[in-house]
Amino acid sequence: MRTSTQSSQQQTTAFGKVAVLMGGLSAEREISLQSGKAVLEALLRKGVDAVAIDVDENILNRLITNKPDCVFNILHGRGGEDGRIQAALELLDIPYTGSGVLSSALSMHKYLTKQVWQASGMPTPPCQLLKADSDFDAIAAELGLPLIVKPVQEGSSIGMSKVEQASQLEAAYQEAVKYDSEIIAEKWVQGSEYTVAILQDRALPVIRLETPNQFYDYDAKYIANTTGYHCPCGLVGENEQALQKLALDAFQCVGTRGWGRVDVMIDEQGNSWLIEVNTVPGMTDHSLVPMAAKADGIDFDDLVWQILQTIEEKK
Ligand SMILES: Nc1ncnc2c1ncn2[C@@H]1O[C@H](COP(=O)(O)OP(=O)(O)O)[C@@H](O)[C@H]1O
Ligand SMILES: [Mg+2]
Repeated sequence: MRTSTQSSQQQTTAFGKVAVLMGGLSAEREISLQSGKAVLEALLRKGVDAVAIDVDENILNRLITNKPDCVFNILHGRGGEDGRIQAALELLDIPYTGSGVLSSALSMHKYLTKQVWQASGMPTPPCQLLKADSDFDAIAAELGLPLIVKPVQEGSSIGMSKVEQASQLEAAYQEAVKYDSEIIAEKWVQGSEYTVAILQDRALPVIRLETPNQFYDYDAKYIANTTGYHCPCGLVGENEQALQKLALDAFQCVGTRGWGRVDVMIDEQGNSWLIEVNTVPGMTDHSLVPMAAKADGIDFDDLVWQILQTIEEKK
């Protein structure tokens, strides 16, 4: 008779050698290294044969040489969250956690993601692409103020700023364009901010974010100790369920799968607005997905294990 220890050992060895891809070359490298360390330690505690790979420009050679049986991808931002590493892994026939090539690339691109949502009748704040020669006053007049200006393919709130007056829009564009060639101005949502973690096609308990800063910027995310994380989020049950459903629909609408996180805002009139999808969100022990999982009774190690298992579902 098989004991439960034996069967759980068989489960953990079923994945063979798991490479945890972390670090990378994006602006979010440091966060990814922290996420990767936490994921690696959890996999090892679970008995998985896991190794870390700090990703650099040599990654293809290293994957070919190391030949992992599968990959736990915890690279944040460009290169790792935008379909590129996913495409390389597809070519090398190495199964990996998280979303595929197309949906990773799409979700990394805030402007195209919003266009797909709009075409599907999902609520997302109006926005416009900004160019160096844009008529900034006309765009401010058309969208209305305030606005938030964002690099289209960046994360961690890098290069973003709030614009209160039309005269500030060009400077905000100049700041954002340091980080990306494509920039959007998006209508500002005055209200509350929420984030919804998705795990194995299920929305976890909603978290409400609160910051004394203008918005949930880099400082509020990683440095300040004044950011409030509320889970339970304070919405009445049916409103929380509606937000979970909206987030899950928005996630599936862009083809993302396995796990991720959807950022949503609710304005002062109670309307929900989809902001973005993260296909490889932070996984440090104080990140948002682990926080939502914990509220659902899933500890960090089990969360990491469940994300790894999503590889099986893809096969
Ligand atoms: N339309 C908006 N109105 C008000 N605040 C916003 C809006 N869009 C984004 N923000 C703020 O900026 C933060 C970062 O924006 P987001 O689009 O989620 O980019 P990132 O990929 O950097 O997380 C959000 O968490 C929120 O605090
Ligand atoms: Mg975000």
